[in-house]
Amino acid sequence: MTATAFWLAGRQATGETTFDVTSPWDGRTVGRVSVPTEAQVEEAVAAAHAVVDEFAATPAHVRAAALDHVSKRLAERTEEIAQLISAENGKPIKWARGEVGRAVSVFRFAAEEARRFNGGEAQRLDTDAGGTGRLGLTRRFPKGVVLGIAPFNFPLNLCAHKVAPAIAVGAPIILKPAPATPLSGLILGELLAETDLPAGSWSILPVTNDRMPALVKDERLPVISFTGSDKVGYAIQESVPHKHCTLELGGNAAAVVLGDWSSEEDLDWAATRIATFSNYQGGQSCISVQRVIADASVYDRLVAKVTAAVEAQGTGDPSDDTTDVGPLVSEDAAKRVEAWVDEAVAAGAKLLTGGKRDGATYAPTVLENLPADTTLACEEVFGPVLTLHKVDGEAEAFAKVNDSKFGLQAGVFTHDLQTAFRAHRALEVGGVIIGDVPSYRADQMPYGGAKQSGVGREGVRYAMDDYTYERVLVLTGLAL
Ligand code: SIN
Repeated sequence: MTATAFWLAGRQATGETTFDVTSPWDGRTVGRVSVPTEAQVEEAVAAAHAVVDEFAATPAHVRAAALDHVSKRLAERTEEIAQLISAENGKPIKWARGEVGRAVSVFRFAAEEARRFNGGEAQRLDTDAGGTGRLGLTRRFPKGVVLGIAPFNFPLNLCAHKVAPAIAVGAPIILKPAPATPLSGLILGELLAETDLPAGSWSILPVTNDRMPALVKDERLPVISFTGSDKVGYAIQESVPHKHCTLELGGNAAAVVLGDWSSEEDLDWAATRIATFSNYQGGQSCISVQRVIADASVYDRLVAKVTAAVEAQGTGDPSDDTTDVGPLVSEDAAKRVEAWVDEAVAAGAKLLTGGKRDGATYAPTVLENLPADTTLACEEVFGPVLTLHKVDGEAEAFAKVNDSKFGLQAGVFTHDLQTAFRAHRALEVGGVIIGDVPSYRADQMPYGGAKQSGVGREGVRYAMDDYTYERVLVLTGLAL
């Protein structure tokens, strides 16, 4: 099998070693990836560093045209790329197609934002005598080269969320895709190579994880944008306290169902959404529903509907159009989920459905009466596992959401606008979704966590802010 080349300063290159990418569904080899040598990594970093000023000065129309081009080419190659995502990640093909569609939008949004970003903000400074005749003009400038470290769960779109905002602001980027799923990220290189972006402005390097500490510490890469586990994210931040780190970390997202969400139609909708989004891509999303917190007045009816809806999720071959839930990223991942569920059941949790593993596939699972000191109650499961909690009223429901070290997003099923605003105020999360699950994400929204779910925000415009800083220009002697 020929090794897939990586992208070094805008051109294809191969190293001296390779690793294989296997399908978590059937273990077949999906691809072989060439790994850059130390010298090649150094070349990519040096090239990115050398082009910082030139890239920042690139006209907006050049960056926007490149971003539009990538968006258009992703759309044209949707089916092929979706098949690749599904093969290397095990994601059901229908979700993989959705992911490509989202990446198309991310690049399109970035093109639009590149055109309007940084027009500058003028501020009169003659509000005191010392500022007479003075005007402040504030514009944003790139902090420098971005090191983007992407996870396996959205192998294309979370790469897009690192790369597109960097290009939009004119910041060079070195992207490191996840070792389990590098092929989808490397495809982006094929599309970027069709543009006129300066050669050093982008590299895609499938560097193995053990070599990352050196890259993280490299002073020529002042911005780190990491998506992944809280453990690794905080280790990165602690190793480079003087750098700008954006960390998109874990969550154990809650869907709250309040007492006013009580008609048959209401509960059917909530149950269907909860079942779908606790299991989509095997629950391997930081905002998949892990906890359902339901008012006692609707709890029993909701439990029956959620359990039935979870049992209706079709598990199987991710390449099959009808499959809802495929394998987890590896058998080890499924074994960890199994161990957490077994621990919870041994501690007294009641298993309502699921609880079985077959290789890398873990059955969609629902539990109630979860003891508070279990791993499942405290950590992000990152698997197709849902726990149900009965509460009395809104205040207890919101307190239960906040009773977590994480705070990424929460969903609140209510019809009441005042409740929606109270939820917005009370919930310690980066996003509150009313009338739907916490898993809703539009790619232009600010996305990121409170508490130990991370720092900084993605969502194209917000990442652009993150990759840049304000620099004020004071003009003197003006006739204001
Ligand atoms: C994540 O897992 O943090 C990303 C979720 C998404 O983009 O939908």
